[in-house]
Amino acid sequence: MQLRVVSDQPWDVPADVLAVPFVGEPTFDGVIAEIDKRAGGELTALAAFGELKAERYGSVVTAAGQLRAGRLLAIGAGDADSITRQVVVRIGSAIERRLAGRTVKSLAIWLGELGDRIDGGAAAVGEMLARGVVEGEFEPASIYRDGLKSAPPALDELILIASAADVAAVKRAAERGQVIGEGANVARRLANRAANDVTPEVLAGEARAIAERHGLHIDVLDPKRATELGMGMFLAVGRGSANPPRMIVLRSGEEGAKDAAGRRLAMVGKGVCFDSGGISIKSADRMEEMKMDKTGACTVIAAIATVARLAPGTPLLAIAPAVENMPGPHSARPGDVVKAMNGKTVDIINTDAEGRLILGDAMCYAEKLGATHLVDIATLTGAVARALGDQMTGAFGTPQVWYDSLTAAAERAGERYWQLPMIEEYRSDLDSWYADFINTGSAEGGLIKSALFLREFATVPWIHLDIAGTAYFRKKTTYAPAGATGVAHATLVELALAGAR
Ligand code: BES
Ligand code: ZN
Ligand code: MN
Repeated sequence: MQLRVVSDQPWDVPADVLAVPFVGEPTFDGVIAEIDKRAGGELTALAAFGELKAERYGSVVTAAGQLRAGRLLAIGAGDADSITRQVVVRIGSAIERRLAGRTVKSLAIWLGELGDRIDGGAAAVGEMLARGVVEGEFEPASIYRDGLKSAPPALDELILIASAADVAAVKRAAERGQVIGEGANVARRLANRAANDVTPEVLAGEARAIAERHGLHIDVLDPKRATELGMGMFLAVGRGSANPPRMIVLRSGEEGAKDAAGRRLAMVGKGVCFDSGGISIKSADRMEEMKMDKTGACTVIAAIATVARLAPGTPLLAIAPAVENMPGPHSARPGDVVKAMNGKTVDIINTDAEGRLILGDAMCYAEKLGATHLVDIATLTGAVARALGDQMTGAFGTPQVWYDSLTAAAERAGERYWQLPMIEEYRSDLDSWYADFINTGSAEGGLIKSALFLREFATVPWIHLDIAGTAYFRKKTTYAPAGATGVAHATLVELALAGAR
């Protein structure tokens, strides 16, 4: 997709579709009134008819009258006070998805007054819109089918219409947004692929291909090397499947190098290619969703590639422990005691609490490779989905200054996180009479206990993102299909880029 930024009047821009976002009620003045007039008053008529409403992401497509564009699309940005960067991304996606199944090669979007509504002004709008349009192109229904008629159109050209003074800044920002959107789609496509397609070994192969494409260093540990390193928790989870586990390690920048913020950041992503629960087997209800239990891994693999595109050579690690959690003759049993890489012993009382086991060893390994700061991302608990739903990621972090850097990255990325407390009193619930601790306590406060478990494997500043609620949508919306959302990819990229030179 080619990106162009122009400062022509919207009615002078030739394109298959001209999209115009409007804020609040569909009452038009200024430029948008002129667009409406040249389109023969279609928008005013549709608003009077009740077809065009103030509803956010609601849209109409009309004939274009005297406009140079072939069709006119008007889309609601919703209430002015609640327009955020995330809303602008979603406006971009909603425009693209509204055109699903239509013949569109060139799409023009007028930035309008959105720049007055968010920090960063027109440039930020350009970045978020371009990212949103690219993310809107993603269609998981096409992964296993050719020629899907209802797919969002593959655009040849996206034209952003800005004011003359903003053109250069909008261009630069939109290019950045395009790269970030493409990275999110890499993560989403991988995450959406089925478990019979993406085994740990296949995921490692995909990581290898990505590493080659973007000049990243890659090391993939097999069970033999994991055994030498003492990764007892990781191996215990992987043992139940005929498809052996892989610890995928990607690096950009020189070995041991620190970034411009003095950090050596490692992103660790849960890569459970299928989570049956193991011997503590899950019920059949929605078990098919557990092919997406590798989303954290897919996200860190895509994010390090995006960082390599935007700021080559930035010191950064991405570590993805990839396993299949299956019942079988070799599976770990409830009550098995294993030794983690840091020497702590764990009594696995529930084999379905497997994410924390593989992440713990991966976090230790990240520190062995010199990580000074950790962020892990995982579809870790059903509890976070029950508490926060699919719009808000649950997050933990210590010390608070390190967590605050996540908040700043999330703000730039236009993503939402809710900080949850690590309540010390709950730690004793993980005590085992048999080992240093058990892998899950009683259900009450289980979300917090999952973080307290992970904390046992970090000795440096650490953030934990639980994306079990936000990693995928069960139903499509106006701005996204059902399936992987790409959540947290942009935030991780911003967090890492804070250390770019
Ligand atoms: N992968 C699941 C968490 C999950 C649940 C992700 C629903 C997405 C949607 C995780 O491995 C798991 O099984 N967690 C258990 C933990 C429990 C056994 C302590 C859970 O949340 O029930
Ligand atoms: Zn899981
Ligand atoms: Mn599980």
